[in-house]
Amino acid sequence: MADLTSNFIGIKSPNPFWLASAPPTDKEYNVRRAFDAGWGGVVWKTLGEAGPPVVNVNGPRYGAIWGADRRLLGLNNIELITDRPLEVNLREMKAVKRDYPDRALIASIMVPCEEAAWKAILPLVEETGADGIELNCGCPHGMSERGMGAAVGQNPDLIEMITRWCKQTTRMPVIVKLTPNITDVRLPAAAAKRGGADAVSLINTVNSITSVDLDLYAPEPTIDGKGSHGGLCGPAVKPMALNMVAEIARNAETADLPISGIGGVTTWKDAAEFMALGAGNVQVCTAAMTYGFKVVQEMISGLSQYLDDKGMALDDLVGRAVPNVSDWQHLNLNYVTKAVIDQEACISCGRCYAACEDTSHQAIDMSEDRVFSVKDDECVACNLCVNVCPVENCITMKRVEPGEIDLRTGKVVPAAPADWTSHPNNPMAVRAAE
Ligand SMILES: Cc1cc2nc3c(=O)[nH]c(=O)nc-3n(C[C@H](O)[C@H](O)[C@H](O)COP(=O)(O)O)c2cc1C
Repeated sequence: MADLTSNFIGIKSPNPFWLASAPPTDKEYNVRRAFDAGWGGVVWKTLGEAGPPVVNVNGPRYGAIWGADRRLLGLNNIELITDRPLEVNLREMKAVKRDYPDRALIASIMVPCEEAAWKAILPLVEETGADGIELNCGCPHGMSERGMGAAVGQNPDLIEMITRWCKQTTRMPVIVKLTPNITDVRLPAAAAKRGGADAVSLINTVNSITSVDLDLYAPEPTIDGKGSHGGLCGPAVKPMALNMVAEIARNAETADLPISGIGGVTTWKDAAEFMALGAGNVQVCTAAMTYGFKVVQEMISGLSQYLDDKGMALDDLVGRAVPNVSDWQHLNLNYVTKAVIDQEACISCGRCYAACEDTSHQAIDMSEDRVFSVKDDECVACNLCVNVCPVENCITMKRVEPGEIDLRTGKVVPAAPADWTSHPNNPMAVRAAE
């Protein structure tokens, strides 16, 4: 099996799968069980003191969205940072690190935006033997209203300042955890780098209201008739997280800044995608909260198998897809595909027809006996039929060469103009014309 040993900013772990800072890492009991199940590292649930007391709600603290099969797609929470005393957490971290020296143990920290508060907590954390710290600049609820978490993460100057304080005070590597609740994630990432961060991790949870109780007229989870926005995580946020990781990885200013990828990682494949887009390792929360700690076994065996099949080392995967993340104007307009329906696999449900006929390009024909076929002349290769079809691989896109005669229609496939700069779809060309 491929060697999954990971060295992330000098922090070694037997595999690149860490548990993210959250309930799974809130106490010694959990973390010991997580390490026994095979996790390579943990980021301990965020520590803080110095600020106002942390008291969680006593009503429900989670909301959710599900797929039709009741699979959990997104989890929303209104939980705060750890509500356990600092000294208890520190004692437990020290004991766990002593007994699992080969695993990574990172302390997540969030204290008020004052130099003295950060400088006071760092020596205490260092004393536990922790391998590094993660600055929680991302929590979107409860703490942000107190000027911490996302309130810091949305202000690049504060990120830079806090990171610098930490780097001046501790020998431990500093990871800055970023919030996705911001327009351009490259700005906080660049600020972290200017402050001396060893890495960034992302994403923290996405501001959200998952549902509204239509009898109480209040967001869920509802606490005594009221609700507040919470933070969304799980598979639903993975696409946003992948994009933000890629944005940082391909930005010249931050291209060399190591990234710990977080957001909806549930399988080895999710992890591999984050790594291909530039993440040196991944962190996981919702998948462990949904399926238990042993979910990591699938990640370990799946990633090893994939690397073996590819004949690739773990490090070779990191960033491998970054050069292929491009801006729209650089996409090849001469790349032409057409939808093809596999008549053997088709169950004649007609979803492709309804979607295409009603909302798109009228490129699917329905015969009287419900046989569906693609009208190549009309098909613009939008892929909607592929996405709405309930049968996997029933509709696929076939590539046809520009200028080539399409044998099914007898027509020449049109090519985009060789000079893209003058093409009307090119926003830069339109601007030049104006
Ligand atoms: C209940 C809950 C509590 C969380 N608490 C923290 C926290 O204390 N500190 C932190 O940095 N992130 C916290 N997170 C965010 C996670 O660490 C992670 O960034 C987020 O859940 C996205 O990963 P996932 O999609 O794998 O869950 C929490 C998430 C959940 C669901």
